[in-house]
Amino acid sequence: MTVQAHGGLRPIDLKDPDLYQPGVPHETFAWLRANHPVYWNPETDGAGFWALTRHADVMAVSTDPATFSSARSNGGHRIFNENEFTETDMEASMISMDPPTHVDYRRMVMGGFTPPRLRDMEAGIRQRAVNLIEAMIEARRASDAPIDFVSAFSAPYAIQTLAELFGVPESDGDKLFEWSNTVVGEDDPECRSSREFMERSMGEMAMYAMGLWQARSGAPGGDLISMLVKAAEDGTEMSLPRYLSTFILLVVAGNETTRNSISGGLIALDENPEQREAAMADPALLPHLAQEIVRYISPVLHMRRTATRDVEIGGQPIRKGDKVVMWYASANRDDSVFEAPHRFDITRTSRPGAPKHVGFGFGEHVCLGQRLAELQLRVAYEELFARLPDLRPAGAPRRLRSNFINGIKSLPVTFSAG
Ligand code: HEM
Repeated sequence: MTVQAHGGLRPIDLKDPDLYQPGVPHETFAWLRANHPVYWNPETDGAGFWALTRHADVMAVSTDPATFSSARSNGGHRIFNENEFTETDMEASMISMDPPTHVDYRRMVMGGFTPPRLRDMEAGIRQRAVNLIEAMIEARRASDAPIDFVSAFSAPYAIQTLAELFGVPESDGDKLFEWSNTVVGEDDPECRSSREFMERSMGEMAMYAMGLWQARSGAPGGDLISMLVKAAEDGTEMSLPRYLSTFILLVVAGNETTRNSISGGLIALDENPEQREAAMADPALLPHLAQEIVRYISPVLHMRRTATRDVEIGGQPIRKGDKVVMWYASANRDDSVFEAPHRFDITRTSRPGAPKHVGFGFGEHVCLGQRLAELQLRVAYEELFARLPDLRPAGAPRRLRSNFINGIKSLPVTFSAG
């Protein structure tokens, strides 16, 4: 059933990227949770999909991959059908696979995110934060013009960590940044200006990824690419198209999300000065700040599954083959789970029995880089609070036009250079 929006003027279309341009439409999601928590969203260019807006339904679907498939052959993890997408001929990466195969591919790179590995990375992450902050201070001393926080800090910070994971020079970060924007910016002409541009970017990324494969085949290291090479040598099926799609997944998953969390966190802290003061006064709260930022922002707005059999969700019959889209941005503000869900509260997760947010997904495909992302957020804010205590947004953010990534393209900031 298609319903009228709470204003009663037009049907709700959660797929419309313009809906997210002013920010996540939390009122619309609240209305859906209360009135149509399993909402049929028609599509003009597709079969339509079930939109899940409640936390309990998102958790249930995420933990039942046999019934709710991510496999590319069933359509994959995006609202559009990946198996009908003709712009590339890549094979599925782990995010578009079901168990048991999914586990084999996930295991290949898990070694890159273990607690000891993350402990080893922390000093380098901190040094990068310090270097970027010092460059911002230099820029401030040279000019009074507002500084763009995204290009000066959150983007290079996330991409340089990715460069470390890949074992490539930080100077390759600009290329990785551009390719990643092209992949997720399908609805934003500033990121993907044309089909030709997309094809050229994908071609460049493929050449780059193949060069890395060749280099690591002769001289393996401890990086993610070497782990993929080793898995292939040990017998895991790794065709060139499969390797390329895995490479792209890692570039996009570890970059956009972390960048937008850091930028979005700065806005949330500015809008909630008492939370900002509490975080600055008590470093023990910073791991909780990282978690609350991801709940509050929901950097990934949704993921899609496909029903493999007739089933019910919240009493609503779902037919085999139907698309089911889990709106994390809504589940993370579900007031049947989170007390005062629209309040940015960095002490929330420090309370015993605090409910779990789904900003990193849940279940079978829960984010592989979750701990790394939380580490990066914590260290970023430790250094920003210590070195730029009066850092604040100085204007409105420019938002990515997307129904998938809650993205911030630029954010002017001010601070005193001391
Ligand atoms: C704040 C930052 C991040 C957020 C909000 C985030 C969010 C997510 C979400 C929602 C999923 C679930 C996909 C699904 O259920 O279909 C996911 C999966 C994934 N993430 Fe993250 N992510 C973040 C950072 C990272 C980082 C830093 C990396 C690695 C460098 C990473 C790598 C991955 C990978 C490889 C998957 C696929 C896992 C699988 O299919 O088993 N993510 N992420």
